[in-house]
Amino acid sequence: MSNAQNLTYAAIQIVHNFGAVAVVGGSLIALKWRENAMRKKLAKVVLIGWLTQAASGATFGMTTFYYYQELPDISGIATYALAIKMICVTLAILMLAAYLRLGQHWEVQHLDKVWISSSALAITAISAAAFLRWFS
Ligand code: HEM
Repeated sequence: MSNAQNLTYAAIQIVHNFGAVAVVGGSLIALKWRENAMRKKLAKVVLIGWLTQAASGATFGMTTFYYYQELPDISGIATYALAIKMICVTLAILMLAAYLRLGQHWEVQHLDKVWISSSALAITAISAAAFLRWFS
């Protein structure tokens, strides 16, 4: 691999890693910090984090396509791990977008469930990342 290619992957990985910090850390903080105004701010940060993960994850694939004219060659467990990440990202984006639009009408128990779900999705996705990394 050329230095330019390595640099490109490293730059994407930096963005992807900070996105992971935002979704895991932000969701867990919001789970503990049960104050509505703070949770709303955190929801924006965490939603941006999930969107960042989708965009930077896709950029990994596009970079490989740019250099090799084909998508990354993965199969088996790595494919399942990637699918799990994509499902987590999709569910979390839909849920947090709904929370930001409609959350002011929801009950506290419902709001708690949003953050339990976001934390569970984030922990699942970051765990799947290890399998994607080592089985591809
Ligand atoms: C659409 C969603 C996502 C896609 C397409 C995606 C894609 C990728 C790809 C292609 C890699 C590089 C794998 C390798 O080095 O072989 C990667 C690494 C990684 N991803 Fe994702 N990702 C997504 C979502 C997430 C989410 C939501 C998280 C965390 C919550 C996450 C955390 C990580 C971490 C920590 C790594 C580095 C793994 C390592 O090198 O040990 N990803 N991701």
